[in-house]
Amino acid sequence: MVSSPGFVVFLSLAVSLVECGLVYPAFQGIPATNADPYNFNGSTTDSNVIVSTAFQVDQKSGASTDAPPNLPASNTTVTAIDGEVVNATVPASRRSVSFAVVDNQILQRGGSDYTQVFAGTGTSRQDRDAAIMGTSYLTYTLVNNATYNVADCLAFCDATSGCAFVNLYYEYNNGMLDYVYPQHSNLKCVAYGDVHSAKEKLNFGGQSLSDTPNGPLTYIQESSGWASESLSDPPTPKGYDPLPDLNGANEAPGYMGFVFLNKYDTEACAAICNNQDPNDVGGACKYFNIWRAVVDQVPTTYTCALYYIPADPSTATNYGQGNLTVTQSRGYKRMNYVSNGGFEDFTCGGLIFCYTDKTEDWLASSPKDGDYDASIFHYQPYAHSGNSVALLGSAFGRDGYTGTLTYASGLSTEPDVEYVIEFFHSSYYSGQGGELEAFVEVYWNGNLIGSIHPGYSQWKYYKFVVVAKGNDELDFRGGKAPSYDFLDDIYVMRA
Ligand SMILES: *[C@@H]1O[C@H](CO)[C@@H](O)[C@H](O)[C@H]1NC(C)=O
Ligand SMILES: *[C@@H]1O[C@H](CO)[C@@H](O)[C@H](O)[C@H]1NC(C)=O
Ligand SMILES: *[C@@H]1O[C@H](CO)[C@@H](O)[C@H](O)[C@H]1NC(C)=O
Ligand SMILES: *[C@@H]1O[C@H](CO)[C@@H](O)[C@H](O)[C@H]1NC(C)=O
Ligand SMILES: *[C@@H]1O[C@H](CO)[C@@H](O)[C@H](O)[C@H]1NC(C)=O
Repeated sequence: MVSSPGFVVFLSLAVSLVECGLVYPAFQGIPATNADPYNFNGSTTDSNVIVSTAFQVDQKSGASTDAPPNLPASNTTVTAIDGEVVNATVPASRRSVSFAVVDNQILQRGGSDYTQVFAGTGTSRQDRDAAIMGTSYLTYTLVNNATYNVADCLAFCDATSGCAFVNLYYEYNNGMLDYVYPQHSNLKCVAYGDVHSAKEKLNFGGQSLSDTPNGPLTYIQESSGWASESLSDPPTPKGYDPLPDLNGANEAPGYMGFVFLNKYDTEACAAICNNQDPNDVGGACKYFNIWRAVVDQVPTTYTCALYYIPADPSTATNYGQGNLTVTQSRGYKRMNYVSNGGFEDFTCGGLIFCYTDKTEDWLASSPKDGDYDASIFHYQPYAHSGNSVALLGSAFGRDGYTGTLTYASGLSTEPDVEYVIEFFHSSYYSGQGGELEAFVEVYWNGNLIGSIHPGYSQWKYYKFVVVAKGNDELDFRGGKAPSYDFLDDIYVMRA
């Protein structure tokens, strides 16, 4: 796009400007040490492990006989990590104080229309039925049992955040319902974050809860199921952009592993992505794919798969295997608040080598009397990924001044929210001796918020956390030729 002012002219002077065998970066030199070529793609989604783990977890539950009614729905939990079944909490994401907690805002309520999914069996004394044991259990209430009170149960679902389905049934011979709880009702209304079917009627009672030794056992009657028809899309976590709905799960490069959640919770999956340890080559998690596994038509678990390369619909081609079907697959891409943090928009119109001190998004500047102390190169051997990269330190080796790389506009950040600045850095161009004084300082609104003094170093990941004030300014200052600092793949993300 932006062509360099004179890369052809200077090439002819290259020989005379070589000092101690060092070809300065502006003369298309060769880094002192060639890093092993990185395989940025890393690994691809391991669907076999996801599927085999889906057969191991048991996320079925319902209203237990010892829990009182009207408890707040429990927080989303992690039921497996990379093939290992666990019972773990979702990390609280770094976020502004005003941000809502991660919990049950799975499927936001839109209205109050319900379909009956299944009916209960009759009411005669010998009739028996069973309550649902299914995924995404939220909480339960006791509704007035003067009638078979469907209306109050649906109203309870409306009032329960994340409710997609209710199971309404009578539970007999439970002393807590008969004598203890103030509702004095044996009509249980159980809320779920997912829709269940009659084949999931697995709780037949059979417990001794009547307060009399060897007394009658609990049993269930008239267990009906009702699904909400007006569920809107799940909330988009802050700092993410949703992809259009996917037909299958992604099978994509840059895979960082997966967790299972006990609910379809986009906020929880985002919190896990934000807290994932960075990959050495790819950096932070930048995309997640959330989907529901349905085994033999029964919802079984909710996969949250993490990637450092944002995936897209073209790889969403895993529809399941055997009796497991991928449903409700959605992708969310982590927003980068700087554009062209990899400088890839800077090209040479077909040539392999050129440089500049200005692109649409970045300004590379020198102190007074300095010359190209910061610059942007299009040249694959210099880059961490792709073909372009930024350089701090005099590109022509003319001075030992420190250059500055500035993001050209204010960032569209939100005040009082934490952001992560990540980038990859290398200082190996001039070799061990030449790179002794390599350094980079990171400035946020003109304030120094961190610095690195790595000396001679291959490409390495760095991260700094800042609090935004809105419209923030970002600068990198560094280099002191012949100590050269290359920067690539700069990201600013919501923490
Ligand atoms: C990395 O993945 C991309 C997109 O899937 C592909 O075009 C490219 O060839 C892959 N590179 C390597 C080294 O596997
Ligand atoms: C749910 O998560 C919130 C925020 O992380 C925490 O304060 C609360 O104690 C959790 N509730 C339960 C029941 O664990
Ligand atoms: C997970 O751990 C919590 C807290 O230790 C416990 O209350 C809950 O019953 C456990 N869940 C499962 C499925 O084991
Ligand atoms: C309502 O529930 C209470 C408490 O379990 C029970 O005693 C009563 O018989 C029930 N009423 C009806 C009409 O089923
Ligand atoms: C689904 O298939 C798996 C693996 O083949 C098997 O272990 C499981 O029992 C099957 N489940 C159902 C409900 O058919």
